[in-house]
Amino acid sequence: MDKQTPEHEDNVYDSNASGNPEFRDLFNKSISRRSLITKTAGGAVALTLAASLSGCNDDDNDSVSGPSEPPVDENKTPDSLKFKAVVKNTLNEFTVPEGYQARVLFALGDPLKEGMSEWNDNDIPTGVSFSMRSGDNHDGMTFFGLNPSKANYDANASNEGLLVLNHEYINQKYLHPSKNTIKDPVRSEDEVMREINSHGVSILHLSKDPSTQEVKIKKDSVFNRRVTAASKIEFSGPVKGSDLLKSKISPEGLFTFGTHNNCGNGYTPWGTYLTTEENFDGYLARNANDDRDEQTEYALTRYKIDKGQAAQYKWNTPVAAIMEQSMFERWNTSITAPTAAQDYRNSANSFGWIVEIDPFNVQVPPVKRTALGRFAHEDCRSSRAISGQNLAFYMGDDSTGEYIYKFVSDAKWDTKDVNGGYKAGDKYMNSGKLYVAKFVFDEATQKATGQWIELDIKDPRISGYAAYKFADQADVLVHTRLAADAVGATKMDRPEWCAVNPKNGEIYVTLTNNSSRGIKYPTDPANPRNYFDADKEATTLKGNINGHIIRLREAKDQTTATEFVWDIFLFGAEADSHSKVNLSGLSDANDFSSPDGMWFDPRGVLWIQTDDGAYTDETNCMMLAALPGQVGDGQMAQAKSGDNEQVTHVGAKLDDSKLRRFLLGPSGCEITGVTMTPDYKAIFVNVQHPGGVWPSNHPTHLNSSKGIGQRPRSATVVITRIDGKEIAGEALEQSPPKK
Ligand code: FEO
Ligand code: CA
Ligand code: CA
Ligand code: CA
Repeated sequence: MDKQTPEHEDNVYDSNASGNPEFRDLFNKSISRRSLITKTAGGAVALTLAASLSGCNDDDNDSVSGPSEPPVDENKTPDSLKFKAVVKNTLNEFTVPEGYQARVLFALGDPLKEGMSEWNDNDIPTGVSFSMRSGDNHDGMTFFGLNPSKANYDANASNEGLLVLNHEYINQKYLHPSKNTIKDPVRSEDEVMREINSHGVSILHLSKDPSTQEVKIKKDSVFNRRVTAASKIEFSGPVKGSDLLKSKISPEGLFTFGTHNNCGNGYTPWGTYLTTEENFDGYLARNANDDRDEQTEYALTRYKIDKGQAAQYKWNTPVAAIMEQSMFERWNTSITAPTAAQDYRNSANSFGWIVEIDPFNVQVPPVKRTALGRFAHEDCRSSRAISGQNLAFYMGDDSTGEYIYKFVSDAKWDTKDVNGGYKAGDKYMNSGKLYVAKFVFDEATQKATGQWIELDIKDPRISGYAAYKFADQADVLVHTRLAADAVGATKMDRPEWCAVNPKNGEIYVTLTNNSSRGIKYPTDPANPRNYFDADKEATTLKGNINGHIIRLREAKDQTTATEFVWDIFLFGAEADSHSKVNLSGLSDANDFSSPDGMWFDPRGVLWIQTDDGAYTDETNCMMLAALPGQVGDGQMAQAKSGDNEQVTHVGAKLDDSKLRRFLLGPSGCEITGVTMTPDYKAIFVNVQHPGGVWPSNHPTHLNSSKGIGQRPRSATVVITRIDGKEIAGEALEQSPPKK
């Protein structure tokens, strides 16, 4: 999200003034847990009920047997896409292929348990009640199969499961009564509580009818709960207890309250959810007289926490009557007391992490995994879980000119850790190496290679960095961007989601767009395009307008590799654009702009989602299905770079049997978040910030949200085939399965 347009997430603010090379350069050379529980009604209900749930996991769970990640079943992988491609439109409707149906499952304000009132435009529920209602701006999402007798994770269960999803930010004007304090210097506590509770994560217990495939929320389940921007969350890993995390909330730097701006996501092989903290900067105020030393000021600026900045929603301003005053004060990250343990100067350092949530454990707070670094985390995708090999987690920092990272666990994967909960998280995510990507292209050999550079205080480029003196490795992890600057990582066109191909382990990363590419940031082989819009020549749309998807293959297919090869899998483009822009040869059946969400299902079908503002004059945002090849299956190409050309390496062109538009969201929205039941019979996506009156105009018999009124509301949608068969599996039904 951008500070000027909070209703449309599009973070183009650019703070990377590190002078790191573009490709061209390389080329040429004190609140108690009890008080929180008593003061948030929903949390209290959830925790009380949890205590009576028999068979529920707890942190001491020693039941380590369980199903492991199912291997790719080639017999389930379609060799072509046969559903009828959805035609581009700009309707205020949700469009799926013929023979499919889309049901609205869970929209803003919908209650998570029986007996609570429904959302009503004219009688908006209280702010506190949102600790047990759907938050806003649904985003990353994962389905976890549930073993009902053991109440734990079963990777093969489809008819019962927990759906975990992010609520990234809020649309203030649709969230409150029409008479409100949005513009007032001091906000009302009720509204701010509604906003705080509308961020974070929802956990829903679902059931699916095995014959009709209809999915419903089990509203009587104790698993239904919210994690919000007010929930207690522990720090874990190397930064826990660091001076940089000390605060009045936790003078020892052991925990904080809240996760917010949860964007992309991931899941672990042991059955937990990973949520990401993206654009946290705008939520924090900083006083005009908050004087810091030069180094700290430099670091704060690199993270966009500017002296004198206001918090965009003014969460620091309410006068508390229901909550503790400190729950609001902490949104001002300024020095106001003699020591860090007595104020909130370090609030900024408490956000920007990967957070692990065990959806099956309703008793133990989620954990911020500090070993994975602090930046505008967009997504976090695990490598394939192969017994005896280290796990890698791939991550993007979504801001203009930021970097791609991976974390590699010290521990090697052991399938006995399935259902190991937070203890398994401690084992695989607290100890390991954090790397940043540097892309290289050799013009003489035309080889596209790259390096993973470890961010280690022992590296003299980091320990001796002139712009910032790192105190220790914890400081490197808190100020990951600065360490990445120091080692000369490659500035990318806004890294968003990551996906790992289950067939060969290759890593895909969406680079959504960059209006400054070719202007402030010179083009390079990995970010090669700078052009004008196909229909608006010489107008305001320029740079890398439509984005692209880059992919990497680790050397020797090892997660621990420090070298990789790469190519550009797909270039977003309008079908009618210049051939040096539409380098992937997209047609009307599959052209798209601004790729963002992305996920490989376990069959190896890649789902690509868009968050676009450039092609919306001709089409709403969408999701496509793809059947990719592999790195290096294409050829060298010349991309349009202003009046010149930029050499790059593009993947093989995919015709519409391998890349096809699967759905369109309603006008005004982005499509984000994608997950499936393991039987491939239900696929879930989120509609974020729709326009018009959607979902109130969705067909009644397919609208499980009972909200009253016509305000547009973000929602989770579940798509099934009317005949109940596998999503995108038509090709397998028309020819015998491969042997
Ligand atoms: Fe939250 Fe970068 O999308
Ligand atoms: Ca256009
Ligand atoms: Ca056009
Ligand atoms: Ca996104």
